Amino acid sequence: MRVETVLTEEQIASRTRELAQQIQRAYAESRPLLLSVLKGSVFFLADLARELGSGYPIDFMAVASYDGTRSTRAVEIRLDVSTHIEGRDVLIVEDIVDSGLTLEYLLGVLKARGATSVRVVTLLFKSDAFQGRDRPDFIGFELPNEFVVGYGMDLNEEWRNLKFVGRLVP
Ligand code: IMP
Ligand code: MG
Repeated sequence: MRVETVLTEEQIASRTRELAQQIQRAYAESRPLLLSVLKGSVFFLADLARELGSGYPIDFMAVASYDGTRSTRAVEIRLDVSTHIEGRDVLIVEDIVDSGLTLEYLLGVLKARGATSVRVVTLLFKSDAFQGRDRPDFIGFELPNEFVVGYGMDLNEEWRNLKFVGRLVP
């Protein structure tokens, strides 16, 4: 299997810098909790948090989704945050939003816990596959509906280590 570059390390870095500026402007005074959805988003979180600067707490959640058919997919929490969510501004940090079902579930959970606001930043967005209601608030790149790996994203735990985003070519 060969990996063909879709986004270079430089493209990702420069877009992450722009996203950080957008986020800083959008929140003005407040410092949202950066909520990274494990595992894919940890690389993006690490770079984004360093561009954002001080004062942004981070926390993690892991969810699992079960494939029945796509429309019967169920999502479940595997690891929960250690932060009290009530009254917090929360910024969900995602590597990639595909169908949007994971995100829709998380938005519901965080709102039910009384978050003051919940917004979403994702490095990648597959707009053609998206079935959710609202697009993510901050989007790095829109991609066609194809499977990608690297920069945290995996296929069966492989390829996360790549510094770029690529597609697998047999
Ligand atoms: P969704 O619930 O369909 O939006 O899928 C969300 C999760 O599926 C993402 O956070 C990723 O962990 C994983 N995922 C979706 N598309 C890809 C891909 O192209 N490569 C690797 N992981 C993906
Ligand atoms: Mg993810």
